[in-house]
Amino acid sequence: MKLPEKVTLVEVGPRDGLQNEPGVVPTAVKIGLIEKLAEAGLTMIEATAFVSPKWVPQMADNAAVLAGITRRPGVTYPVLTPNLKGFEAAVAAGATEVAVFAAASESFSQRNINCSIAESLERFRPVMDAAATAGVSVRGYVSCVVGCPYEGAIAPEQVAQVAAELMVMGCREISLGDTIGVGTPASIARMIEAVGKFVPMSRLAGHYHDTYGMAIANIHASLQLGMATFDASVGGLGGCPYAKGASGNVATEDVVYLLNGLGLDCGVDLDRLVAAGDFIAGHLGRPSGSKVARALLAGRS
Ligand code: HMG
Ligand code: MG
Repeated sequence: MKLPEKVTLVEVGPRDGLQNEPGVVPTAVKIGLIEKLAEAGLTMIEATAFVSPKWVPQMADNAAVLAGITRRPGVTYPVLTPNLKGFEAAVAAGATEVAVFAAASESFSQRNINCSIAESLERFRPVMDAAATAGVSVRGYVSCVVGCPYEGAIAPEQVAQVAAELMVMGCREISLGDTIGVGTPASIARMIEAVGKFVPMSRLAGHYHDTYGMAIANIHASLQLGMATFDASVGGLGGCPYAKGASGNVATEDVVYLLNGLGLDCGVDLDRLVAAGDFIAGHLGRPSGSKVARALLAGRS
C-alpha cells in the first residue's frame, strides 16, 4: 500500500514521559519543554493529566502547567481526564481537548484506574456529554493492545471491541497503546486489522512504547497499513507507573528521522526537536533515550 503523504505526530513527552519520573520535575521546566516542542513544529502536545495526585503525584501541577504555557495558534495541548472531576478541572484550567483512557485488559484497567473496563466506559459517558456541551474534543486511548503486564497476550478482538465502543461514544480519534512495548510488526498488524474492521484508519493512532526496541518497526508496519498518526515522546521519555518495567514511548526524534527518510511530511524540525530533547535531558541529568538525538549531538561535538 502507498504510504500516507502527511503524518501527524502527537507529542506525549510532557505527560507520558514526565508522569513516570521518580523525582518531581519543576513546573517551569515542564512549561519550558512544551514551549520548545511547539517551536520545533509539533502541533499536538499532550501537556499534563488531570488524574488523582495521590495516584500520580508527578502530574499534580496540571493547572499550573496549562496556565503557564503560551498558547500558539495551530497548536493543541490535550490533557488526560479519567473522569468528570478531571474533565471539569481540565476545562476550568483552559483545556480544549482531553483524552479518556481505557484498556483492553481487565487487570490493567483495575490497576491503572481502579475499575473494570465496562465501569470505565460508563465513567466516560458523562465526560463525553460534558465535552460535547463545552465544544471540547475527546481522544480515546486503549492500553495493552498487544500485551498486558498482568495478563500476558491480549486478543486483537478485545482491543477492537473497546476501540469501537470509544468511537461510538464520540471519541475523535482512538490511540492504540502498546503500553509495555511487546508488539512486533506482525502482532501490531494483526491488531490494527482487527480494529480497522470497526474504526476507520483515519481515526486511529499508534502509541508504541519501545521496551523491546520494536517501536520504529511497528510504526513502519502501521504506515504500510495506512495509519497516519503516531504518538511519540521526546528523548523516549516515559512509561506508565502502573506497568512496571515498561520503558518510554518511541522517541519523537527517531520517528521524525524515519519519516524524513521515507520522504513523509510531519512538519517537525529535527534540529529544534533535538534541542528540546537536550533541554529536558539536561534537567533530568541523563542522556537522551533517542538514538537519533545521541548520534546528532555526538556529530556536533
Ligand atoms: P479512585 O481512588 O478509584 O477514585 O481512583 P475515587 O473517585 O474513589 O476518588 C478518590 C480520591 O481521588 C478522592 O479524593 C477524589 O476526589 C480524588 P479524596 O476524597 O480521597 O481526597 N479524585 C481526583 N483528584 C483529582 N483529579 C481527578 C480525580 N478523581 C478522583 N480526576 C482514578 C480513580 C481514576 C481517579 C485514579 O485511579 C487515577 O487517577 N488514575 C490515573 C492513573 C494514571 O494516570 N495512569 C497513567 C496514565 S495512563 C497511561 O499512561 C497509558 C497511556 O499512555 C496509553 C498506553 O501507553 O497504553 C495513556
Ligand atoms: Mg503510554
